[in-house]
Amino acid sequence: MDRITIRRPDDWHVHFRSGAMLKTVVPFTARQFGRAIVMPNLVPPITTAKMAAAYREEIRAATPADADFTPLMTCYLTDDTDPADLVAGHRKGIFTAAKLYPAHATTNAQHGVTDVAKIHRVLGAMEEHGIPLLTHGEVTDAAVDVFDRERVFIERVMEPVLERFPALRIVMEHITTSHGAEIVRRNKTRMGATITPQHLLFNRNALFQGGLRPHMYCLPILKREEHRRALRKAAIGGETCFFLGTDTAPHLRHLKEADCGCAGVFSAPVAISAYLHVFEEENALDRFEGFASLHGPAFYGLPPNEKKVTFVRKSADVPKEFAVSKDSELICLFGGGQVDWSPAREDKGLVA
Ligand code: DOR
Ligand code: ZN
Repeated sequence: MDRITIRRPDDWHVHFRSGAMLKTVVPFTARQFGRAIVMPNLVPPITTAKMAAAYREEIRAATPADADFTPLMTCYLTDDTDPADLVAGHRKGIFTAAKLYPAHATTNAQHGVTDVAKIHRVLGAMEEHGIPLLTHGEVTDAAVDVFDRERVFIERVMEPVLERFPALRIVMEHITTSHGAEIVRRNKTRMGATITPQHLLFNRNALFQGGLRPHMYCLPILKREEHRRALRKAAIGGETCFFLGTDTAPHLRHLKEADCGCAGVFSAPVAISAYLHVFEEENALDRFEGFASLHGPAFYGLPPNEKKVTFVRKSADVPKEFAVSKDSELICLFGGGQVDWSPAREDKGLVA
């Protein structure tokens, strides 16, 4: 198969940041995807409906006029989240979901939740009003090995939350282990999971291939090969609880190539090509539309996009760097290399 036409996909997990960075990265997502769940871990974090509405305007202003793109906003949960503001924001169509970052788990998570017991009232309101909970599924306990933090989060946090809030809808974001895939499967009537391209493409060896590879570093960190295999099985299996979420997470190059480098892989320009590579390798291109364009909307109770996009099996160079300003840039997944699938619309280049 050299050509694939599917409904326009959505990206159920992106980081746009703000300011010059946002202006640089939004067009890549907006040109390829119909909608995107926009993560709220800004400085300061997006914690109120008012902030989310203003942030949505900033994204709209950076969206190319010819792009058919809708940003879906999320609320950053803190120990002090006001359930009334969250529910009102959801009712007004400002908030699509709320994100749980365990405090200090990742980039800009310092205002996150210190103990889930502190947000029980908020989770109860979300359960009542059908607001999905999106989770960064890692414990922050320094005694837990960094490669085990997802598994331990499932035991210590996810299982009790599932039990306490039996109707709460939950997305386990960017699953990286067989344990993540399993708990989602077991609770598929109300759980979903996003899966990133990097966790389908690479195992943890990629972090150390020939030396330390800061652009492969993200959180949750890449895991062993057996987990990558389990994630591939989940992504290609046609199970509706698994859907596309790139977790494209841009950080300026000098902040990744540093003595304490930031976590995040910037993948937006090559996102669909990267997933297509995986599905082709698995001989599962016929399952790609479900993963990319149908399962996510079904979870969120939204219609799939009407428009279609076509990708062709044709290699394209990926720029080594993407400039953000005169003297700062981003390094993209596959930067300086090639992708083997490209949008059919040549005029639009890599990110049709
Ligand atoms: O690698 C990551 N980068 N993981 C996250 O959870 C956050 C993200 C970011 O915002 O940079
Ligand atoms: Zn993320």
